[in-house]
Amino acid sequence: MRRLSEIEAREQARNPTGIEEFDRVLGGGLVAGAVVLIGGDPGIGKSTLLLQALASLSERGPVLYVTGEESAEQVALRAQRLGVSGDGVDLLAEIRLEQITQALVERQPGVAVIDSIQTLYSGELTAAPGSVSQVRECAAQLTRIAKQTGITLILIGHVTKDGALAGPRVLEHIVDTVLYFEGDTHSSFRLVRAIKNRFGAVNELGVFAMTDRGLRGVSNPSALFLAGHSREVAGSCVMATQEGTRPLLVEVQALVDTAHVPNPRRLSVGLESSRLAMLLAVLHRHAGIATYDQDVFVNAVGGVRIMEPAADLAVALAILSSMRDRPLPAGLLAFGEIGLAGEIRPAPRGQERLREAAKLGFGLAVVPRANLPRQPIEGLRIQAVDRVEDVLGVLA
Ligand code: TYD
Ligand code: MG
Repeated sequence: MRRLSEIEAREQARNPTGIEEFDRVLGGGLVAGAVVLIGGDPGIGKSTLLLQALASLSERGPVLYVTGEESAEQVALRAQRLGVSGDGVDLLAEIRLEQITQALVERQPGVAVIDSIQTLYSGELTAAPGSVSQVRECAAQLTRIAKQTGITLILIGHVTKDGALAGPRVLEHIVDTVLYFEGDTHSSFRLVRAIKNRFGAVNELGVFAMTDRGLRGVSNPSALFLAGHSREVAGSCVMATQEGTRPLLVEVQALVDTAHVPNPRRLSVGLESSRLAMLLAVLHRHAGIATYDQDVFVNAVGGVRIMEPAADLAVALAILSSMRDRPLPAGLLAFGEIGLAGEIRPAPRGQERLREAAKLGFGLAVVPRANLPRQPIEGLRIQAVDRVEDVLGVLA
């Protein structure tokens, strides 16, 4: 046993992947012996991103790409199409765990990618590849090897909606870092979010644009999720959300329409559905806005997911605007949490959000009183609100 204060605490050395937006979500780069799980829908770009990262990492040491999903030829073809050099990348087309662990121990690559964990198969178990017990056992064995040898392992996992494969969720507690791809598969932007990170901040977001030469980082994404209407429309409100270290401006849309069924529909895409139900109850109780006979749909534009409660105010404004079929004033932006008692609570880092909005040409911000900046922000008029009743005045 030792005293905590006697133990030398060193920051872990980082091995940057050279892909800036990827390094951002990783907390600066990869850590030796760490296991990173990266999940996402099929076709969203997992293999592409990791192949790009490995090609870049190979300039500084040996790397290994294990493909259980595609043949070696398919991976080579992709590398060629992306224009990445495969010179330093070792490739192993294998699904047998024992073979893979042997290759890892023999070759000692600095970084290895397993594409995907759900294709692996340990001969010691009788269960089928992709089953919970196989996925768990393979990941646990690989994790042990990473810790023993200092090899950084990146496990790719598919998220499947039908549950035919064990999802990456069953591995979240085993690994050090969990990243998920999100975003609309139909849009050309891809987001990578850190859900868990022993070596960095969570909720950091990496933003990429898809190109025919692979994923390219978008270093200034703040205006990416604005729909860009040619004129004002009802049911739309822009919010400033703080994702990780950067503010993002996102358009929130709402549609409120007469329900023709006894149980009106409540649907939210990219926003928390439980908060929508709560918000509608607060609007009714404290502002007299009734929606019991209305369907309510809300959506965050561009497939971005907003998990923070500071979205409440923008959602409420979009709902009101849709109900009254009246657009909000041009250049308006809002953020703030709405409490059950109808109070409007401040959002963290309000100043940064406001400054980003001003930079992008927004002229009016509706914010919780506690978020009023101490000094005026040039070009931005700020309206403070205390209670949900005050919000009605914004549309008057
Ligand atoms: P892929 O990386 O194979 O997705 P996943 O491994 O998550 O299933 O990408 C799917 C397809 O999209 C693949 O044919 C390559 C193509 N693609 C591009 O052309 N450019 C890009 O920037 C990305 C991310 C993918
Ligand atoms: Mg793939």
